[in-house]
Amino acid sequence: FADNGYRLWLKYDAINQTKILENYREEISSIYSFKSSETISIAINELENGLEGLLQKKVQSDPTIKPGSIVLLKEEDQPTHKITVDVPDHEHGYIIKNTIIDQKPVILISSKSDIGILYGVFNFLRILQQELPIENLSITEEPKIENRILNHWDNLDRTVERGYAGFSLWNWQTLPGHIEQRYIDYARANASIGINGTVLTNVNANSTILTPEWIKKVKALADTFRPYGIKVYLPARFSSPIELGKLPTADPLDPQVIEWWEKKVAEIYKVIPDFGGFIVKANSEGQPGPQDYGRNHADGANMLAKAVAPFNGIIMWRAFVYSNEVPDDRAKQAYNEFKPLDGKFDKNVLVQVKNGAIDFQPREPFHPLFGAMPNTPLMVELQITQEYLGMSTNLAYLATLFEENLKADTYAKGKGSTVGKITAGKLDNHSLSAIAGVANIGNDINWTGHPFAQSNWYAFGRLAWDYELSSEEIADEWIPMTFNTDKASEDSIKNMMMGSRETIVNYMTPLGLHHIMGWSHHYGPGPWIKDKPRADWTSVYYHQADNKGIGFDRTATGSNAVAQYFPEVARQFANLDTCPEEYLLWFHHLPWDYKLKSGDILWDGIVKHYYLGAEQVKGMQNTWNALEGKVDAEWHRSVKQLLAIQYEEAVWWRNSCVLYFQSFSNRPIPAGLPKPD
Ligand code: GCU
Repeated sequence: FADNGYRLWLKYDAINQTKILENYREEISSIYSFKSSETISIAINELENGLEGLLQKKVQSDPTIKPGSIVLLKEEDQPTHKITVDVPDHEHGYIIKNTIIDQKPVILISSKSDIGILYGVFNFLRILQQELPIENLSITEEPKIENRILNHWDNLDRTVERGYAGFSLWNWQTLPGHIEQRYIDYARANASIGINGTVLTNVNANSTILTPEWIKKVKALADTFRPYGIKVYLPARFSSPIELGKLPTADPLDPQVIEWWEKKVAEIYKVIPDFGGFIVKANSEGQPGPQDYGRNHADGANMLAKAVAPFNGIIMWRAFVYSNEVPDDRAKQAYNEFKPLDGKFDKNVLVQVKNGAIDFQPREPFHPLFGAMPNTPLMVELQITQEYLGMSTNLAYLATLFEENLKADTYAKGKGSTVGKITAGKLDNHSLSAIAGVANIGNDINWTGHPFAQSNWYAFGRLAWDYELSSEEIADEWIPMTFNTDKASEDSIKNMMMGSRETIVNYMTPLGLHHIMGWSHHYGPGPWIKDKPRADWTSVYYHQADNKGIGFDRTATGSNAVAQYFPEVARQFANLDTCPEEYLLWFHHLPWDYKLKSGDILWDGIVKHYYLGAEQVKGMQNTWNALEGKVDAEWHRSVKQLLAIQYEEAVWWRNSCVLYFQSFSNRPIPAGLPKPD
């Protein structure tokens, strides 16, 4: 039945390999749980529904353990059944194991907590969806990052900043009285991948969300999400004491301001006792902040941190700051402002840093702040929504981008000091750790606009749980859960996904080019953008093309942004022999006839990348056409149309960039390639 993508990766369609189906039907008889709670009921429900779909038979809760029972047991209840099975120390960790209880072979899912059991149940169902063997299960899992948070950029009027999947899920008008089934399905989907926090509204914050009427609405959502292990957070608009409290100032050191926030926070916690805390975008892109009063980011963050500390709340203070009054390379500004503040933040503050120093480009080197603030917990902010990667018409599997970032080595404490490790707090031993993903979710029937964009929500959750997973492993999970088709078809879907982000880099911003998208909306090409209120809101600022060459010199002869990296990395990027070619024009301004590793001159290399990108989209179209009849017909039709649009867009990008840059290079299109028109 065509669900138009609503069921996400939790489809639970019948197992299609007969042998495996028979084996599962034999091995699994019933569900046993020792104690009940709201969360355990959810887990049982999920198992009942999931197993009915997958096994095509009813598997129900039973008050006695039978051979083949799936046993849900909190660690504290193990002795009652005369078993001891080690579970992870982490409250939300779990084990899945074949074992014997009362002389009966069972599958045990055990944890210290109900939420851990729920996570275990989702993992168990994922194993079945992948049609993997269940005879020798011995799984031990625990999250490597504590707070795994979606950031919704949803406005109170239900528009979504940089959202390409319809309007906001939150129907504020009917809240708090009416709980839409969709909120529950949202919580379920998040719990299935271990996401345990959500910032409901936009970082470009509206203080109205902090008024008593709206806090009631937020409470209704928090109550809905709680049994799924999800905490609610809000953005705090720094000037709220003025807007809501009618104070003359929002100066973080002013006693009245401090008191206003303390009262506001107490008011929130009275209604939502497990409220997560605040995210703050301050003194960035016109947002108010402590600098309006001559204070710094730490002054602002600590004032809020002290207000939420008695309730165990946290503050996620964003490092996405830049100012046009600073005549420096924008890529350097966050580091320059934040590094001197290392060690000055209260212990419940995290600094939230985008994966790269510019802005969620199809490819960016990692942000130099990672590793540079060892005394402050840093969290990475990834963008799941495709602001700069073709929005909802382009197929981009972003797990490869996320993986590249999380595995990037900062060399902060020698080899192996990866961004992932820093985000997990493991490099500098911070017990507070978090990761954020800017959500790509809206009220489109399929949640994410482009059907394949579901994989990016999924991948974010899985990497937030375990930042060491590979994008390929994640694709190996998501594809069978989503498509339930034959192995050969799964392989071709995987190939298409794994190459999809690089394809976009090829036809948008090859060889380290960046931020040459259309003005403000960032859709389509716009390398010609100039004469805007700020130099760094133009494209010419980033590509610096002229008759001699192209690229942004960030070495010592230019802005010297490379010097912000640790020496090993700085040397690698600064030296043309060692700088990875994918970052070439990010760090270097080079002549058009500079020799690339391929032997091509730079101009020819750029042009070839643009052509290759468009060709690769054609390749994706061919792969997809061949999958007709092998995947859900509605998905097939929809993705086919989107790939046709994507091809047009790739050609649009290719032709406009090649023709534009050719006006500087004055060189011909390399032999063998058709002329752009
Ligand atoms: C980008 C994006 C904005 C967003 C900002 C941010 O600049 O285009 O829409 O508000 O990032 O992350 O704060």
